[in-house]
Amino acid sequence: MRIKSGATSPRRVGHTTRALRISMALELAARSSAFYLARSVPALARRAASARPAAASVRASPIAVRAMASSTPSSPDDPVDFSRFKGATFEVPTDAKYTMADQPARFAKGKAENNARMLTTDYFDGSFLKDARVLVTGGNRGIGLALVKELVACGANVIVTCRKSNDEIDGMAPAVQVIEGVDVTDTESVKAMTRALDAPVDVLINNAGYFYEPVETIENMAFDEELKMIDICAVGPLRVASALYNAGLIAKPGGKIAMITSQGGSVSWRVVQNPTGHDFGHHMSKSAANMGGVLLAQELGPRGILVQMLHPGFNKTGMTKKYEHIWEVEGAVDASVGAKRVLHEIGLMTPERNGLFINCEDGLQIPW
Ligand SMILES: NC(=O)c1ccc[n+]([C@@H]2O[C@H](COP(=O)([O-])OP(=O)(O)OC[C@H]3O[C@@H](n4cnc5c(N)ncnc54)[C@H](OP(=O)(O)O)[C@@H]3O)[C@@H](O)[C@H]2O)c1
Repeated sequence: MRIKSGATSPRRVGHTTRALRISMALELAARSSAFYLARSVPALARRAASARPAAASVRASPIAVRAMASSTPSSPDDPVDFSRFKGATFEVPTDAKYTMADQPARFAKGKAENNARMLTTDYFDGSFLKDARVLVTGGNRGIGLALVKELVACGANVIVTCRKSNDEIDGMAPAVQVIEGVDVTDTESVKAMTRALDAPVDVLINNAGYFYEPVETIENMAFDEELKMIDICAVGPLRVASALYNAGLIAKPGGKIAMITSQGGSVSWRVVQNPTGHDFGHHMSKSAANMGGVLLAQELGPRGILVQMLHPGFNKTGMTKKYEHIWEVEGAVDASVGAKRVLHEIGLMTPERNGLFINCEDGLQIPW
């Protein structure tokens, strides 16, 4: 199967020669100049006004497939055929090892096939976690809290790091050690975290994350928020991993680092999941987290510590509350299910699978 965004023929993209690309670029430049010279200011203003609702209408989901036209339709006073101008056009890898980019179709297929791996957690066996020392960042709520509860149920010794504790996790002592005041953007607080640990962890789950609420578009970029997302989601896991590793606090050999990133970080999948762009900071932060994870895998794999990037699936948490209207259409699950899926994949981490990017919904890979 081939999936593309916009109407450009995949064959044409696949066989475009360098010369053709240059001529296309020249033609595009010429037409763009003609367009700008020919246009009246009111026409430009009308186009800008009509573009705004289109941007707002794609608020729906970074997870959802929105096969919307990415070009603005021509108007009577617009001599340029905008139907030729498409969004990013490249092919999505669809080998059998990859999970499906189209999330509603993926969920529908799972239901049609009664796929137990996707629809149940019957396969989950957490016995490998008994007595393991597992550190979860952002373990005070959402998927992090669900992971902590499941880990306790499996007999693990859990270390929760968070900015602010609450009665629920405090009440889980002594199975849970809570280290409060750990902000993954604050290197000193992360270093202080290591001083509260008295033995190496077997598993580090870099779970803490942040997704700015409003939709970012070219008209509506929040640069400070972009940097904040990148700091929390991409640099944060490196702060935690390096502080632990350099303090000798990740078991080796045999330690595991799970990077909870997101399918939103797959560049290949943007043309299916977000054919009209948007959510710059979030998706950039998760792509960067994936890259950081691969580099960690390269450095730490030979030292006996495994790293994987895990998309936890679509979970009903505070982060995705803004997508509540599509929770049921796209297979969103309670975070307790998401936690089992994540822990299952951590159990499957082996040297042969080091550095992979996995969709915990079905265990298949996500292309970069
Ligand atoms: N939910 C989904 O469907 C979904 C899908 C794909 C990926 N993910 C990823 O899964 C992870 C958990 O998501 P979630 O849905 O559970 O989100 P959530 O409910 O919003 O929880 C986010 C967690 O991250 C913590 N956090 C945020 N900024 C932090 C910082 N600077 N330092 C330390 N902790 C910080 C939060 O702590 P505070 O309470 O202090 O804010 C909270 O514990 C995230 O990495 C997210 O991107 C989720």
